[in-house]
Order: sequence, then structure tokens, then C-alpha cells
Amino acid sequence: MTKSLDEIIKSRRSIRRYADRPVEREKILACLQAARLAPSAENVQPWRFLVIDDQELKKRVSDSAFSGIYLTSRFAAKAPVLIILMAKPDILANRLGRLVQGTQFYLLDLGIAGEHFILKAEELGLATCWIGWFNLKGVKKILKIPSKYRPVAIISLGYPASCPPGNHIRKELKEIAWFNRIEG
Ligand SMILES: Cc1cc2nc3c(=O)[nH]c(=O)nc-3n(C[C@H](O)[C@H](O)[C@H](O)COP(=O)(O)O)c2cc1C
Repeated sequence: MTKSLDEIIKSRRSIRRYADRPVEREKILACLQAARLAPSAENVQPWRFLVIDDQELKKRVSDSAFSGIYLTSRFAAKAPVLIILMAKPDILANRLGRLVQGTQFYLLDLGIAGEHFILKAEELGLATCWIGWFNLKGVKKILKIPSKYRPVAIISLGYPASCPPGNHIRKELKEIAWFNRIEG
């Protein structure tokens, strides 16, 4: 039975332990299709996804991405799949947004697309974790990523080995959302 959107949002957690079980390509493609449909500023679609499911390559990427000061992200090396989320910022839309408003629209766009991916993965019974803390230069080097693409985050993907107990730790709604006037 498929989960409702509400169930998907409530059950999604960042999972850092994965089962020793490969992820089917069809499921990865379904997540990518969900990401592809995300909205973006001026419909520029600045996201690019590099899927690493070759285990030997994933080891080389992990050894570089999650070492030294990035060791806290090492758990992701055990995920069967890593998604390198890259941006190809549109010169015009992004420069204008940054210069005029100080907003990096492409980062918003990538965040939305990444979360589409993650929510679809949740629907399919997969586990994910956003990883912003990784050796960006190392990843670029190992994967020979051209300068037109900028890695922004990694999403680890796999079947969950365990579910963390407890509820989401979140601010109360009244601390973060208001009607008509700022109250905080
Ligand atoms: C942009 C972003 C970057 C993140 N980077 C990391 C990371 O480098 N390492 C990590 O373990 N978790 C990372 N997380 C996961 C957060 O720690 C997690 O979402 C937060 O603690 C809330 O927990 P939950 O996802 O289980 O609800 C990141 C999350 C986001 C959205």
C-alpha cells in the first residue's frame, strides 16, 4: 500500500546505517524522475545528479570524501549508493539573484530537487541522508567533475539497517511561523 504524503513526510528520517543490500536501478530512476519534476527559479533546472553505484568507485569516492575533518560523514561509505548532487548555475538567473537580492537561487533549486528525491526514496522504502560535510575538492578530483559543475551535497541511499527511535526534534510552530506579523 502506498504511503500518503503526510506519512512520507512524518516517517522520513536521516538514516546513517544501511542494510547490505543493493538498490534496484529502477528505484533510483524513480527518485531521479521525482527530482526532475522539482520547480526552479526561471525553470533553469540547475541540478545534475551523478549516481555512484559501482562499489569500487564508491569506495574511492568515500575514501576521499569522508576522511580527515570529514570523518563524521564516514557512515555514508557503507551506503550502497551515493548521489553526488551538483549544480550547473545559470549565469544570468544566478548572477541577478545574487547581485540584486543576495540570494543564491541555484542552492534553493538544488535543495528542492534533492528533497523530492529523498521523499520519493522514502515512499519506496529506502533510507537516505543529506550530506553537506564532505571533501568537495577530493570528490571533484576522483570523479573528474568539470568546472562547469559544482558539487553541493551528497545523498546517501540504501535500505535501512535500523530506524532511529524517537520523534523529530523540531522547533514549535509558533517559533517559526506567524500570520500577518512577526512574533519572534
Ligand atoms: C543541507 C543538509 C546537510 C546535511 N549534512 C549532513 C552531514 O554532513 N552529515 C550528517 O550526518 N547529516 C547531515 N544532514 C542531516 C541532518 O543532520 C538532519 O536532517 C537533521 O539532524 C534532522 O534529522 P532528520 O533528518 O532525521 O529529521 C544534513 C541535512 C541537510 C538538510
